[in-house]
Amino acid sequence: MNNITLIATSTFGLEKVVKNEVEALGFENLKVSDGRIEFEARLEDIPRANLWLRCADRVLLKMGEFKALTFDELFEGTKALPWESWITEDGEFTVNGKAVNSTLGSIRACQAIVKKAVVERLKEKYHTEWFEETGPKFTIQISMLKDIALLTIDTSGAGLHKRGYRDEAVEAPLKETLAAALVLLSFWNKDRILIDPMCGSGTIPIEAAMIARNIAPGLSREFASEGWPAIDAGAWLEARSSAQNAVNYESKLQIFGYDIDGKSIEACKINAANAGVRENIVFEQRAIKDLWIDKQYGIVISNPPYGIRMSDFREMNEIYISLNKTFKKKSGWSVYILTADEMFPNYFKRSPPDRVRKLYNGRIKVNYYQYYGERPHHSQDYLKTAPVPDEDPLPADCGAEV
Ligand SMILES: C[S@@+](CC[C@H](N)C(=O)[O-])C[C@H]1O[C@@H](n2cnc3c(N)ncnc32)[C@H](O)[C@@H]1O
Repeated sequence: MNNITLIATSTFGLEKVVKNEVEALGFENLKVSDGRIEFEARLEDIPRANLWLRCADRVLLKMGEFKALTFDELFEGTKALPWESWITEDGEFTVNGKAVNSTLGSIRACQAIVKKAVVERLKEKYHTEWFEETGPKFTIQISMLKDIALLTIDTSGAGLHKRGYRDEAVEAPLKETLAAALVLLSFWNKDRILIDPMCGSGTIPIEAAMIARNIAPGLSREFASEGWPAIDAGAWLEARSSAQNAVNYESKLQIFGYDIDGKSIEACKINAANAGVRENIVFEQRAIKDLWIDKQYGIVISNPPYGIRMSDFREMNEIYISLNKTFKKKSGWSVYILTADEMFPNYFKRSPPDRVRKLYNGRIKVNYYQYYGERPHHSQDYLKTAPVPDEDPLPADCGAEV
C-alpha cells in the first residue's frame, strides 16, 4: 500500500496556485482538473501534504474511480475497493457526496449504496456482522461527475483553512486558504513592504508572515488521518518535527495591518500571537483616510467591505476615495484588491487593472483586481537583493481571467 493517489481539492480559480504548491513539495505528474489536483504519493506524504498545503481545501485519499450508470454498478465498483486497508474493524465512517451531470443524480441514494457496499466489503474481510464504530473516524466521499464515480477518504478532517490560530473572528473574515493565495498571487516577498489597510481579523498579514517565516500552515492543528492505524504515528512525528525545524526565525518583516475598528485590531493581535507571528506585524487602529505612505515602493493586499454583507454606500465611497487619493500617484506600489463590487475599477482610477482574476470568497463571486507597481531599483523599501519578478508570479492560465 505504499503507493497511493492523493487529491488536493481547491476553490474555483485557485487550481494553478495549489498545483504550484503541490509541485513545490516535490510531487510530479500532476493531473489538474476543476477543483482537483491529483498526484501520486507515498503513505508518509499524507502528513506532509496536510501540514504544508496553504491554499488547498482538503487532501483526499483516492480509493478508486469507475463508470457507474446504475446503482448495481456503483455497488459492485465500491465493494471491489480495498476499504479494509484503511478502515479499521472499529472504525466509524460516514459517507457524503455530490453528483453533477450524472445518470445517478440522487446523491442521497448514491451515499446509501456506497455505505452499504463498504459495509458488505468490511463484513467479508473482518468476518463479522456487527461494527461498533467506536474507533477512528473516516469520511468517505462519493463524487459523481458525468457518470464517473470517484471514491475518496478525507485525510484532513476540518478543512485546511482551519489553521487553529483564528479564535477571534470578526465579521466577514477571509478563509485563510484564500488569503494565502492572494499573497502568493501577488509580487510580495518577505523583503518587501506589505500593507492591508482594512485587515479585519488580520488574515492577509498573518498568512503573509507565515509564508515569509516558512511556518507550515497546519503545524498547530490536528488532522483526521492522524488517528488512522494505517499511517505509522512516526510519519506524523517526523513530518511535524521537520516542519518545526523549517521555521525561519530570522526574518525581519515589514508587514502592517490597519482597520478602522478597534475590536478587529485587538482580534488581529491575538490571532497573530496564536499563529506565532505577533512580532512580525504592526497592527494599528486606523481609518483608511488616515493612511499615510512615505515609502516609494510596496504592496497593498486587501479586501474592503463590499456591501453585500456589511457596509453601506457611504462607507464604500469613503474607502474608494481614500484608496484613490493615497495610491493614484504611487507608481511604485502594487495594489491588489479582492472585492465583489464590479464597479471598483471605475472608482480606483490609477489605470485599468493589469489583471483581474475571478475567484470565490465562500459562495460569493469576487474579482481580484491587480494593479502592478514599478519594480524597486535600489531602495530601503527593498531590504535585500532578492529577485524581483518581471512578470506575473503565476502564468496566464492561473485563475479565471475576467
Ligand atoms: C471584509 S472585512 C476584511 C476581512 C479581513 N480580510 C479578514 O480576513 O478578517 C473589511 C474590513 O474593513 C474595515 N473597514 C471598513 N471601513 C474602513 C475604513 N474606512 N478604514 C479602514 N478599515 C475599514 C472593517 O472594519 C472590516 O474589518
